[in-house]
Amino acid sequence: MLPSGGGRAYTGCDWAAKMGIPDQTQKGDSGLEALIMIAWKAYLKKVIPNSVFVLRLQYLQRRIRKEFQSYATAKDTFSRIYEGGYWGQSKTLGEKYYSGDGSHQDEIIVPYVSAVRRFLQSLGEKPDAVDLGCGDFAIGSQIRPYCGKYIAVDVVERLIERNRDKYREDSVDFRVADIINDDLPNGDVVFLRQVLQHLSNSEIEKVVVKLPTKYRFMILTEHLPLSDRFVPNLDKARGPDVRFDIEGEGSGVILTEPPFNLKVAQSRILCEVSDGVVWRKGIIRTNLYEFEPHRQLSQ
Ligand SMILES: C[S@@+](CC[C@H](N)C(=O)[O-])C[C@H]1O[C@@H](n2cnc3c(N)ncnc32)[C@H](O)[C@@H]1O
Repeated sequence: MLPSGGGRAYTGCDWAAKMGIPDQTQKGDSGLEALIMIAWKAYLKKVIPNSVFVLRLQYLQRRIRKEFQSYATAKDTFSRIYEGGYWGQSKTLGEKYYSGDGSHQDEIIVPYVSAVRRFLQSLGEKPDAVDLGCGDFAIGSQIRPYCGKYIAVDVVERLIERNRDKYREDSVDFRVADIINDDLPNGDVVFLRQVLQHLSNSEIEKVVVKLPTKYRFMILTEHLPLSDRFVPNLDKARGPDVRFDIEGEGSGVILTEPPFNLKVAQSRILCEVSDGVVWRKGIIRTNLYEFEPHRQLSQ
């Protein structure tokens, strides 16, 4: 059996935050600002029905989806997301590259880092890691000490340049690549954290077929609706949004379900946190998968 882990916390949703949707956990820069924001949001929540927020979200989603239809490649899409601050803004002055609150809020990342660390340490020997869609590396930098070699890949060139500079002490091999179309680096364990949820099904398929040939373990994180009635893997175009926001019960990426039907030897939930958004509930779930046949650690 794979070793166990877990955690639970209430978190915010970066997509909803961008849309101005009230969220019970967003914080201001100072204590006073935070209190004012909480009071303001509580007031708005009282006087405005949820349906108004849902309508506003749906309107903004349509607008943004239309804009993102024009980007032909993953490089164009994700460069535009970072340049335009579609996942929010860093509170650090002059810091443009921000992978979203889901990569920064303690309620989300502390349970994740702790569950992943426990798993990695359970392997005995530090595994060589590949981080696909490493983003701003706020999370990767916390996982890095528990790995042997660490290769971090992203399609946004300027983001990778910024990571090389910011994390130059961390001994990370940062690479620019498109995980849909390019070959993937070898490793013992692959991290795919909130990346596939932004791609279309045909793009996910191209990534998924490569994974069992390259890695022994995969640590996969996806944002999913809380309801167990949702239909997995409804298709969407590549963009800043996720299947979670598809109307009705929403949807989310589950690789072991059709059309992907990923075959794994073992799997278990490593960590699950609630997104705590007031007007609809969701979870950020991290699964650990082990592929067959087992490859040797540290080739
Ligand atoms: C929401 S961010 C998550 C970042 C990081 N994994 C984390 O959890 O903090 C998704 C990242 O995946 C990257 N990405 C999306 N599609 C990609 C592709 N085809 N090839 C490489 N990186 C990709 C984006 O540029 C973005 O940095």
